[in-house]
Amino acid sequence: MNNSVINVAIDGPGGAGKSTSARAAAKAMGYIYVDTGALYRAVGVNALRKNIDTKDKAAVAASLDGISVDLVFENGEQKVLLNGENVSFEIRTPPASMAASDVSAVPEVRAFLFDLQRDIASRNNCIMDGRDIGTVVLPDAQVKIFLTASAEERAQRRYKELQAKGSTVSFQSVLDELIERDYNDSHREIAPLKPAEDSVLLDTTGVSLEKQVEKIISIIKEKVQ
Ligand code: DC
Repeated sequence: MNNSVINVAIDGPGGAGKSTSARAAAKAMGYIYVDTGALYRAVGVNALRKNIDTKDKAAVAASLDGISVDLVFENGEQKVLLNGENVSFEIRTPPASMAASDVSAVPEVRAFLFDLQRDIASRNNCIMDGRDIGTVVLPDAQVKIFLTASAEERAQRRYKELQAKGSTVSFQSVLDELIERDYNDSHREIAPLKPAEDSVLLDTTGVSLEKQVEKIISIIKEKVQ
């Protein structure tokens, strides 16, 4: 890793508040925020568009042939491009979430997205969030945080977000899906979700977003200043 850049790895299960708090902390620190889940979501959307069974690992691996996935940053905001098309909104639907979790268990998909993540981190002060950032993608990151919260609270946050977008899904289906994704993400053979040994654990159950951001910033400052 280029020693002149600062890399902060934030990992944790879906709905723990990683993206909202990491984005705000990155803004406050003047770093870029990199949401790596968006990359897996773009691969998932590509598979859905091609009507591929996302549980079929060989078919998912074959679906990578000839595709391009890129991240671009405009005014500090990340956009994800699939074959040059901005799919930043399409990747946020519940089917795209499940497809992302499925495709992320495919070794070829992880290998396909690895260099892109490493390359961005080598060139920018950044906060990168995902599932395996502190353990696999950036094992030398100066700061590693594992952010979590109870499943009920995480489902509640997701449910409110979806309701605000006009979705009519039930709380129970959001909770069930979240538990299924947690299970998939932490039990897959390759790069499973788990805290890096040298990570700081941050449980955000009952913690306001403002306090989460303050805490993340103070952990970063303590480690790098
Ligand atoms: O963070 P998210 O919910 O947008 O991630 C979508 C899926 O992608 C998630 O179920 C697990 C997977 N993922 C991963 O395996 N590794 C990462 N670094 C980021 C996400």
